[in-house]
Amino acid sequence: MPSIVITGASRGIGKGLAEAYAGEGWDVIATARSDGDLAMLSAIDGVEAHRLDVTDEASRSAFVDAVGDRPVDVLLNNAGILDGGPPSVEAWQRSFLVNTIAPTLLSQALADNVAASERKVIALMSSKVGSIDDNSGGGIVMYRSSKTAANMAFKCLEIELAPRGISTVILHPGWVQTEMGGENALIDVATSVAGLRERIAETSSDNSGRFVTYDGQPIAW
Ligand SMILES: NC(=O)c1ccc[n+]([C@@H]2O[C@H](COP(=O)([O-])OP(=O)(O)OC[C@H]3O[C@@H](n4cnc5c(N)ncnc54)[C@H](OP(=O)(O)O)[C@@H]3O)[C@@H](O)[C@H]2O)c1
Repeated sequence: MPSIVITGASRGIGKGLAEAYAGEGWDVIATARSDGDLAMLSAIDGVEAHRLDVTDEASRSAFVDAVGDRPVDVLLNNAGILDGGPPSVEAWQRSFLVNTIAPTLLSQALADNVAASERKVIALMSSKVGSIDDNSGGGIVMYRSSKTAANMAFKCLEIELAPRGISTVILHPGWVQTEMGGENALIDVATSVAGLRERIAETSSDNSGRFVTYDGQPIAW
């Protein structure tokens, strides 16, 4: 069976993805930060749970060691934060650390595992609000700019990793009813997850590097 690594699987979209892939028999390596969330994930048939704080270099390194030399068909960088407070140096740096720097470094660290797999896909859970073209309203500047920068970092990864047969996809999950999305969001986790899985499944060297919504609409950068 194919394997997938999903970061930030304690709740929301990450948890929904872990459940869906495990339900179809994939080998799921899902990450969380708290003991309770790790126990919850471990109780799902087909899920191997690992502790990972993406901002902590030692934690990332221990996680990469735990994955070892296993092939990873899909690496899904899902963990993210939305800090909508007033911008400050500390908060802005944290947004970049979680949303931009960590997924890029983790993808580089696990590139050998992805290259050794059959499907060879690295995905980033970005957001449409990271699109400069789409920004007519402003606001949430720390979140927006960290996602924009993540998009650029993954564009670089696409070019860097193509010679190794790795394809990338940059995803917008929709406005989803999660802790981050809030209860007024337009779609539920199941709808987002179903679309995201289709986008990941269709990712190949022919369309590598797309910035696309869960339901397949291309997003202008
Ligand atoms: N919901 C939406 O409408 C929406 C729209 C566009 C994009 N997105 C993106 O989709 C992704 C998932 O969002 P969501 O709505 O499911 O959010 P969520 O419910 O807030 O879940 C966020 C996940 O990220 C994890 N996380 C946060 N900081 C972390 C860290 N330092 N290390 C490891 N894990 C960390 C959280 O773990 P803990 O439980 O340990 O905090 C949690 O599992 C994010 O990248 C988000 O930006 C969401």
